[in-house]
Amino acid sequence: MTDSKVLEERNIVAGRVAIVTGAGGGLGRSHARLLASQGARVVVNDLGGSLDGTGSDTSAADQVVAEIRSAGGEAVASHDDIASWEGGQAVVETALNHFGTLDIVINNAGILRDSSLKKMTEAQWEAVLSVHLSGTMHVTKAAWSTLCDKGYGRIVTTTSAAGLYGNFGQSNYSSAKMGVVGLTNTLAQEGAKYRVRVNAIAPIARSRMTETILPPPVLAKLEPEFVSPVVLHLCSEELQESGRIYAVGGGYVARVAMVEGVGVQLPTAGGLDLDEIRKQWSVINELTNARPFGSAMESIGAAMTGLAADE
Ligand code: NAI
Repeated sequence: MTDSKVLEERNIVAGRVAIVTGAGGGLGRSHARLLASQGARVVVNDLGGSLDGTGSDTSAADQVVAEIRSAGGEAVASHDDIASWEGGQAVVETALNHFGTLDIVINNAGILRDSSLKKMTEAQWEAVLSVHLSGTMHVTKAAWSTLCDKGYGRIVTTTSAAGLYGNFGQSNYSSAKMGVVGLTNTLAQEGAKYRVRVNAIAPIARSRMTETILPPPVLAKLEPEFVSPVVLHLCSEELQESGRIYAVGGGYVARVAMVEGVGVQLPTAGGLDLDEIRKQWSVINELTNARPFGSAMESIGAAMTGLAADE
């Protein structure tokens, strides 16, 4: 494996307490190891199940804890299933009981149950939503009051290009991952006054999730360790951004944003005219000068500005 190149003297998370869910393998393991190497005390959470979320095995989290300890870091294992409210609570209690506080939550755990919508079963839908979307909620909700009370927190959520842009055969996963974006956006706003910053990554990395999808030469360029330093930065004290999404993989790092076109303001006196909508359809679809909004209120404000100009 490749170790992330981070200058030791930076110590940007030294002494902080971090939870990393799904840290028994793949990206989570890499995040946990990097945070610990930078002086954070880490709860390594992993249920240790298979890719589809069935089964459990304590050795996944235990192994990563052993790796961190043998490198001189501090870590404790949690084998809790974050798909339940109790599991989320238990992960946070592990941090509080062992380390006395909590500063950082990396919501990373995930499973796949791919199927086209035609064949999608209720169980496939529910399982994926429960781990990715509800799991992120369970751990974050359990952590929230500790972070808000201390007036400091860094939360990283994990979305996916599949959610942001859609991917054939992943309606459950895409929905869950876009739900994570909604949660991130709202928590960024609710956490602002407590200095709790909440950002999402959309990673691409070699892991058991991708090793059957991407060819080996491509996978070789996508070490999980090429994602984790961005997560580390999102956990730093100096970080000002919140409610942002970053696509990260193989050295590529880019901000992703939801944008709204400039649009048109159609007359409403006497009703909204279908012919007007049709006439302006190409302008409505135009994204030149499209902008991201910082909140729903900003977006509504932009629509209201058009309305005021129309009066
Ligand atoms: P992975 O399968 O190696 O890691 C996921 C980990 O989560 C596993 O160790 C698994 O045991 C754990 N886990 C699953 N359900 C759990 C539960 N209920 N409670 C606790 N732990 C649980 O996969 P990978 O690739 O490292 O994925 C990490 C995250 O990144 C996931 O959220 C995934 O959706 C996301 N992602 C990964 C991409 C990639 O290219 N690898 C692309 C886009 C998103």
